[in-house]
This record gives sequence, C-alpha cells and structure tokens, in this order.
Amino acid sequence: MKKILATGGTGYIGSHTVVELINRGYEVEIIDNLFNSKITVLNQIEKITGKRPKFFEADLLDAEKLDEIFQQGNYDAVIHFAGLKAVGESVEKPILYYHNNLDSTLNLLDVMGKYGVKELIFSSSATVYGEQDTPACVETMKTGGAITNPYGRTKYFIEEIIKDYVVAYPDFNATLLRYFNPIGAHESGLIGEDPNGIPNNLMPIIMRVADGRIEKLQVYGDDYPTEDGTCRRDYIHVVDLAKGHVAALEHMKPGVSIYNLGTGKATSVKEMIAAFEKASGRELPHEFTARRAGDLAEMYADPSKAKAELGWQTELTIDDAMRDTINYLNKAKESNV
Ligand code: NAD
Ligand code: WQD
Repeated sequence: MKKILATGGTGYIGSHTVVELINRGYEVEIIDNLFNSKITVLNQIEKITGKRPKFFEADLLDAEKLDEIFQQGNYDAVIHFAGLKAVGESVEKPILYYHNNLDSTLNLLDVMGKYGVKELIFSSSATVYGEQDTPACVETMKTGGAITNPYGRTKYFIEEIIKDYVVAYPDFNATLLRYFNPIGAHESGLIGEDPNGIPNNLMPIIMRVADGRIEKLQVYGDDYPTEDGTCRRDYIHVVDLAKGHVAALEHMKPGVSIYNLGTGKATSVKEMIAAFEKASGRELPHEFTARRAGDLAEMYADPSKAKAELGWQTELTIDDAMRDTINYLNKAKESNV
C-alpha cells in the first residue's frame, strides 16, 4: 500500500481526505504549519479511524525542514492541500499569497525531485476557469482568463508550474483536482470546517450565524439573472470530495491529468438558506445586500470526466451536508461546555 504525505492535512479538506485514505488502508503522514487548523484535529482523526497519522508541524516555506521530512519519509505520493485560501485577504496581501502558495509548491516539487517521489495530487479550484460563456465548466476550457483575485491566480499559476515540471520530468505523474464549493462535515461530527479568523465562504458564515457569532447572513445580491435572483454554485459534500482524492490516487497516470470534482448541479444562495433552515428547524437571520465584486451568477462542474476515468461521482446531497454541518456544530458546542 502506498505511503502518502498530505500537506495541509489538518485543514478542512485535508483532514477529511486523510480519514478516507486511512480507511482505505493507506499510511498517511501530515505536514501543516497550523496557520489555519488545529492540532486537535489529529485526535479526531484517531477517534474516527483508530490510527493517528504522523504529524510534522512545519512550514512548506522551510526548505531545510522539508528536506529532513522527506529524508525519513519514503513517500510514494504527495497530496498538496496546503495553501492560503481567503479570496478577500489575497487582494489586500498579494505578496503573502504568491509567496506562501507558489514558493511552498516550488519547495515541494524540488524536494520530491530530490527524493524520487513521482506522484502529486494538487488541490486546484474552479476559480481557474474565471468567467466563461457557459456556467458548466469542462476541463478542456481555457483557464487563467478573468480571474478576479490573487488567490485564484496562485491556483492557475501552480497548475501551469506543475505542467512545466511534467514536461521536464516526463516520468512524473500529476493530477490537478479542481474543486467546486466544498461544504459539510464528517458524519461523526468530529471534523468539519473550522477556519481561524473571519470566514469568507458561504457555509462557514452560515455556521457562525447559526451559533450566534455573526448576527445575520448578508446575501450578496438578489438581482442576478437566475431563477430566484441569487447566485448559483456547485456545492459538494467534503466527504465526496475526499473520496475523489482516493479515486485519483488509484488512477494516477503519466503526465498531467485534470479533473473537476463537483456534483454537476447548481444551488442558489436562497436554496442553501432554505436547506439549512429545514435541517436545523430554525430560521437563519439574513438580509439582501449589494452584489459582491467578482461574483458570477452561476457556475457548476461538468463532472463527467471524473466519472468516466476515475469511476467517481458524488453520492451525498445538500441536505446530507446540512445535517452533517449541524451535527458538527452541536458536537463542537458540547465539547466547549
Ligand atoms: P484549510 O485552510 O482548512 O487547509 C489548508 C491547510 O494548509 C491549513 O491547515 C493551513 O494551516 C495549511 N498551510 C497553509 N500554508 C501552509 C504552509 N506554508 N506550510 C504548511 N501548511 C500550510 O483549507 P481547505 O479548505 O482545506 O483547502 C485545502 C486546499 O484546497 C487549499 O489549497 C485550497 O486553496 C484548496 N481549495 C479549497 C476550496 C474551498 O472552498 N475550501 C475550494 C477549492 C480549492
Ligand atoms: C458562494 C455564494 C456568494 C458569502 C470561493 C472562491 C473559490 C473557491 C470557493 C477556493 C456566492 C454567496 C457568500 C456571504 C453570500 N475557493 N455569499 N454571502 O465565491 O463560489 O468561491 O470559494 O478555491 O475560489 O472564490 O464561494 O462561499 O464565497 O460564495 O451571499 O456572506 O454565496 O455571493 O454566490 P465562491 P463563496
């Protein structure tokens, strides 16, 4: 069985993927600098899987430390989740984002080359599509145009860097996974999304409105050319997304492979609010405000390539994600009292 290194493995998507990998019998080690995750996630992974992954508290910008980790690691593959991801912050601090996301990837590729690790899965994003003529994104579409923020551009640039790397080292296998909008939590309620600081994405904001830390959700615009006037996105349950990584790992092939990981369906902000209210049995305070700069009216994945080549498709629904999110919130509340 392959030995996997997960960078950013204590983070939201990383932790769920580590659980799925351990459940499939993989040995997993994690590097994270804990900038946006907590060390206690390791206890939760152990509770769920019965195994505690080896953990290195390290920054990928620290090339020397990375070298030490690889020297002992003997890894077969790396899944590279680590990165900064707050869109708004990236506009204010572009150098921080370019430095952290690009330099850490360069360090990683360097050390993988040095120690002969030839399989990489990279956490890319639907953001690389920018604005397209159609809301359904297919992997063959042109990327990199009309991306509205530095965060998004780091994802595009890293994709291009990995493509160049594979040209130079043709026996290297890289898979770029373009995630749509991950939501939800593990069904145990032990891990979920728990960003440090002020969240940006819809679901973590909804969670903070639900637990009273934010007064009300501001819905950014209800005058879009969609059925109910609010924006539509492809929200994918994080456990489905995690399983997509296992499928990708088990179908690695030479060169660069690119897959959308999404459901293929779009849901509006109003529908998300209604789904949360149904699952929680409570009203979610919200108000309609101005549009947010850079938002597209509608965007969703065409996930048919992942289905055809990886044998993967989503199984869980928005209602499952809402139920699991509320379970996670309740568990977090219990453990704080
Ligand atoms: P997250 O912030 O929960 O996890 C990222 C982890 O990386 C964190 O634990 C953070 O501490 C760590 N990290 C950041 N910089 C580091 C560095 N220099 N060295 C070591 N560790 C570092 O985010 P997530 O939602 O789990 O996202 C994982 C990946 O998926 C990110 O690359 C993100 O850009 C990408 N992605 C996320 C979404 C989303 O909406 N959540 C969508 C598309 C793509
Ligand atoms: C979803 C919808 C908002 C907050 C971003 C990144 C993208 C990717 C996923 C990483 C939109 C609306 C939101 C709020 C709202 N991340 N909304 N009120 O914009 O699709 O994508 O996260 O790669 O790169 O750009 O996700 O969660 O921010 O917003 O009305 O307080 O919720 O307008 O329609 P988005 P999001």
